[in-house]
Amino acid sequence: MTRRTLLATAFSTPLGWGANTNGLTKRPFRYADIEAKIARKDFTGISKEDLPTPSMVVEKSLFEANLKKMADHCKTTGIDIRSHCKIHKSVDIARKQMALGSSGICCATIAESELMVGAGIKGVLYTCQPAGKNKIWRGVVLGQKEPTFRMVADDPMTVDLLDEAAAVAKTKLTVLVDLYAGLTRAGHATGQAGLELAQKIDSKKNLKFGGVMGYSGGASHTKGFEQRTAKSRKDVEPVVETAMLCKKAGLNVPVITGGSTGTYNIDKEIGLTELQAGSYIFMDTLYMGVGGRSDPKKYTDFAPALTVMSTVISKNHKGQVTIDCGNKAMLKPTDQMKGRPDVVVENQGAEYGVLKFPEGNEANLGDRVELYCSNLDTSTNVYDRYYVVEGDKVVDVWPIMGRGGAVQR
Ligand SMILES: Cc1ncc(COP(=O)(O)O)c(C=O)c1O
Repeated sequence: MTRRTLLATAFSTPLGWGANTNGLTKRPFRYADIEAKIARKDFTGISKEDLPTPSMVVEKSLFEANLKKMADHCKTTGIDIRSHCKIHKSVDIARKQMALGSSGICCATIAESELMVGAGIKGVLYTCQPAGKNKIWRGVVLGQKEPTFRMVADDPMTVDLLDEAAAVAKTKLTVLVDLYAGLTRAGHATGQAGLELAQKIDSKKNLKFGGVMGYSGGASHTKGFEQRTAKSRKDVEPVVETAMLCKKAGLNVPVITGGSTGTYNIDKEIGLTELQAGSYIFMDTLYMGVGGRSDPKKYTDFAPALTVMSTVISKNHKGQVTIDCGNKAMLKPTDQMKGRPDVVVENQGAEYGVLKFPEGNEANLGDRVELYCSNLDTSTNVYDRYYVVEGDKVVDVWPIMGRGGAVQR
């Protein structure tokens, strides 16, 4: 890429590279009109320059290609996908994934599960064990409402409580065993102990054994394809072996679920029957750095489809400009400027970030700069909507489930 094209792709500025302010004040602009159009789902004439910043922007063609690539991979290799919605928290996206053949949607929180079940999504799997009165009963209510909803347990106590609550609610709940797969955050011991927990679920009058889960978060971001394969094998094999023990003991094991974007082309061979991959839809800089099968340096299997768009708001110091994207926008030093991996991204407080250019100030006041975020889960969590674009044109807006408010947890 020449320096000229590099610069041209780096800035999606309304004013163009080497921005000037011609035209900016010639016609009145009413942001309220844009909001009103968005509320009516009328996106005609709305472009990126009309949008507030910082905001999340999804490049439609890249996003759709990612979705299709994963769906095709699953179809051709014979593994199911129940994609994780912790990444996007969006009903619109979940529906697109279902339309491409997802067996359901994974959720990390009970509130995400309520959102997805409420939207009519079948096969929702709450991948975190429900503990305590609030979560157990919200899970029971979801199971009552939607028989395809399922939960996981990694503790015999949870199995007892779910069975008792299901009896009171006069419902039957599907429960999977969550098995240890190298991550000490959750998961019951594999082997005989795992089999016993599965048998306990199976023996309960008000529960149905739904299979096993083993999520290897350690494998997902292991750098290098060979190393990642080895780590996934080490973590996931005991999970698959436990599923085989369950089968030998006469249990029906409908699913062996786990896996991630990093191991999507590894886990079928190890024995998973279902992937929970999530990040592949957008990609983030942590994933881009793990290396793929074909390129040991860069993970290019899926395209970076999501950016945080920000505006250059001050330019008074040599070699750097200030952007309106800081802690609150989830800016991290590992974020990267789209088209300019050489630019250093730094944080300057709650509302401010800094871009440091190797060769002096290269952006102008009012320029739009797009950043690839370091971690999708935490970043999408602080935005209300995705602006979906085709080039500069806004073509859709997808709401993101409410942020960290207690009421949504
Ligand atoms: C239980 C579980 N499954 C699957 C995933 C999805 O992984 P990824 O976004 O890396 O594809 C996650 C992500 O943290 C997870 O916690």
